[in-house]
Amino acid sequence: MTVATTMDVPLVDLKAQYRTIREEVRAAIDGVLETMQLTIGPNVRAFDKEWAAYCGTAHAVGVGSGTDALMLAIRALGIAAGDEVITVSQTFFATVEAICYSGARPVLVDVDEDSMLMDLAAVEAAITPRTKAIIPVHLYGRTVDMGPLLKLAAAHKITVIEDASQSHGALLDDGVTKAGAAGRVGCFSFYCSKNLGAYGEAGSITTNDAGLADEFRQLREHGGVQRYYHPVVGYNARLDEIQAAILRIKLKRLPQWTERRRALAVRYEELLAGSGVRTPELPAGLRHVMYAYVVRVSGGRRDALRAHLTERGIGTQVHYPVPIHLQEAARFLGYKNGDLPVTERLSTEVLSIPMYPELTDTQQQHVSSSIREFMK
Ligand SMILES: Cc1ncc(COP(=O)(O)O)c(C=O)c1O
Repeated sequence: MTVATTMDVPLVDLKAQYRTIREEVRAAIDGVLETMQLTIGPNVRAFDKEWAAYCGTAHAVGVGSGTDALMLAIRALGIAAGDEVITVSQTFFATVEAICYSGARPVLVDVDEDSMLMDLAAVEAAITPRTKAIIPVHLYGRTVDMGPLLKLAAAHKITVIEDASQSHGALLDDGVTKAGAAGRVGCFSFYCSKNLGAYGEAGSITTNDAGLADEFRQLREHGGVQRYYHPVVGYNARLDEIQAAILRIKLKRLPQWTERRRALAVRYEELLAGSGVRTPELPAGLRHVMYAYVVRVSGGRRDALRAHLTERGIGTQVHYPVPIHLQEAARFLGYKNGDLPVTERLSTEVLSIPMYPELTDTQQQHVSSSIREFMK
């Protein structure tokens, strides 16, 4: 088979997915508009139940975004100025931003070379008497090794808040528990490009603690349960009915979409074997949900490969080009280049290549052969 030299393959193709659910989505949006029940209503309540059931938690509380989820979790757990929260620098900015809102100090640790996830030895070394919480980030669709992390946290009486924004349905190392169901609280983003993505902003907080779930419901609506009565100062962090209706439609397809992502990951590994790029580890049992398929290119060739793929019509992204500890906004934390060497090197090596359930075999072949062509 000859492979075309140019072919548009976006990093993520939301339009292709929309075409498969268009009629159902339009009918659902229309249904919400006919009732004009636009904020928390039947769809939010039903989605909260369905998302909790999917994650295997007793409760889920829909909120306005993944950032809201983290912010409310941190707030409800009483974390504030004077406390420290340990997380990774190798994450999306919002993880750290949410800690900053509380006034607590983010303590950023390095990641493991192979998994690209939180390094547990580094976490242990970073614990102080001020440490109130640890936020493991299940980055790219793969879960942090939660068994040992939970033990470590329990030994020090530290709360664990999972940032599962990129790992909807990913399984933990026990092969049974889902991301977001192991810590005290799980935080999810439904940003449009996520495995389960809204058509706007949305997020959710999962927990097995009924009292905490009540607090999240209160905090998401200006600190009140009954309208115009505000026992505490809260936020406007509501999930809206249209987004909840869309998420309910997409959630039914999530298992099959995840299977397709996994199959694509296995195939990428075959197609890229021996090409010179390092493919991501696929943990045993295919627990990964492949939010992003991140290859690594050493020797300073990452950006040139990226340019080559752009020329071939292939969308790519760098997750992430500047580690959080070296961001301008984080200067007040006092980190410097060299503090987190693995994270810093990854920022020069990682490249996310097209990964979405609708990616066709032919498109994937084109991506892989374009990478091989450059690397040879
Ligand atoms: C790891 C991680 N944490 C937090 C967030 C914040 O989510 P949102 O953009 O929905 O606020 C995102 C996604 O954007 C994320 O990928």
